[in-house]
Amino acid sequence: MTAPLDIRFIDMDIEAIAAMEGRVAVLLPPDGKMDKLARRANRLTRGTIERLSQSPRWEKLEEGKLVEIAMPGGMEADALLVVKLDRRATPALARKAGATLAGAMGTGALHVLAASFAKAGDVSYGLALRAYTFDAHKKKDDEAPAGKATFMVAKPEALAAETADMAAVVEGVFFTRDLINEPSNVLGTEDFAARLAAMGELGLEVEILEEDELEKLGMRTLLAVGMASDMPSKVVVMRWNGGGDEAPLALVGKGVTFDTGGISLKPAGGMEDMTMDMGGAGTVAGVMRAIALRGAKANVVGLVGLVENMPGGNAQRPGDVVKSMKGDTVEVINTDAEGRLVLADVLWYAQDRFAPSAIIDLATLTGAIIIALGHEHAGVFSNDDDFASRLLKAARDEGEGAWQLPMGPAYDKKLKSRVADMKNVGGRDGGSITAAQFLQRFVKDGTPWIHLDIAGTASTKSATDFAPAGATGWGVRTLDRLIRDEYEVAGDADEG
Ligand code: BES
Ligand code: MN
Ligand code: ZN
Repeated sequence: MTAPLDIRFIDMDIEAIAAMEGRVAVLLPPDGKMDKLARRANRLTRGTIERLSQSPRWEKLEEGKLVEIAMPGGMEADALLVVKLDRRATPALARKAGATLAGAMGTGALHVLAASFAKAGDVSYGLALRAYTFDAHKKKDDEAPAGKATFMVAKPEALAAETADMAAVVEGVFFTRDLINEPSNVLGTEDFAARLAAMGELGLEVEILEEDELEKLGMRTLLAVGMASDMPSKVVVMRWNGGGDEAPLALVGKGVTFDTGGISLKPAGGMEDMTMDMGGAGTVAGVMRAIALRGAKANVVGLVGLVENMPGGNAQRPGDVVKSMKGDTVEVINTDAEGRLVLADVLWYAQDRFAPSAIIDLATLTGAIIIALGHEHAGVFSNDDDFASRLLKAARDEGEGAWQLPMGPAYDKKLKSRVADMKNVGGRDGGSITAAQFLQRFVKDGTPWIHLDIAGTASTKSATDFAPAGATGWGVRTLDRLIRDEYEVAGDADEG
């Protein structure tokens, strides 16, 4: 796994500043009022920070951004980074400032002179989230030192404790990003399942269901998708029992390790993006990792359906009728609408086996959600507006975009089939909504359920605030926050 940046919190030592190597950052409020450490850096550089703070450039600088002063006289450092950040900044802004620092830190060491800045923990969180590069398949430069950061603060132990849970979430986010960024030849269904199984070390109970078992369970719609692939289809179940005896929250993820479209083959242009079609499964895995690492006092079960959608002589055909585990039959009009076929069976299995108190599924389900919401918001669909509003609040608190779309019987009608209980597509109009209606048919009445269509947010072509181009890890923070806010019980975590 891509290792998170090594971040340490150290005691205040004014004498150490002059000799710090790499880059030194100071956090300066818009009014230019310096704390003890900034004053020292200012004195060493013969008033540079003060001069900057009185310049038009400083006035124009957006809060959370920085000015880089290269080779500052009087200091060993290669650069002095002056970050504009108010003492009363929101956590969100402090995180953005941290992300800005990640962009300016280069490859060496970064020293942040935070003194008693109250949001130093959030700055370090933003820095850690943004300091990610996926270079598993690039030639390594053995000379390059591993980046690391220190925060010089008034109370290092307190800050280390405060940020321990954040570090767990960062690891979950990085785990998700790695899974999504890996190409499909490296991360097929076998290797994906193996990476999840390895999380047994963290106290998660991980079970892998193989094709013969899926067959016995009647998961025909899931198996139909993977028929023409040489990679075996699998369902992986990850359980975290940190709560009491209450029914678990179930997280269900679409894990199509590559989506060619099947016989309804996709066009060549951009098909390589379908390596990320396991984004839902990757996100579920990252959440499970985060809650295990921080010892969440909640019961959560994560289930992912891992399949590869290939064309071939034994592929499913348009017009095929397949029976789901639930017992409903589906006419497969388009083999490229495969995610819902996978999720139908995993959703049903999750309810049948675990009787969860609520279900959230995540899937890179439709191109239509990108047309509707772009890459800024994931689509939120639900049978329970209260539940949806709690998720939307968690997303807002974490700064991850999420937007609810409507559902209703008029959309559901589009799935009517001449030969089976339903079709797997409802036409182009409202394509993300009819996809959600399809999934809802596999959710029992009375079970609160949310479907998150993350086709636009799971990975992007350009960098976002907290991630470089590629996989973002969208959803790990929101779901971790929701679990914290709504599902944790008082008392000690019962590990595993
Ligand atoms: N995996 C795709 C959805 C997707 C598209 C994800 C673009 C990320 C970027 C999904 O399996 C798919 O092919 N959906 C079809 C559904 C259609 C056939 C009803 C789509 O969106 O075109
Ligand atoms: Mn598809
Ligand atoms: Zn797909």
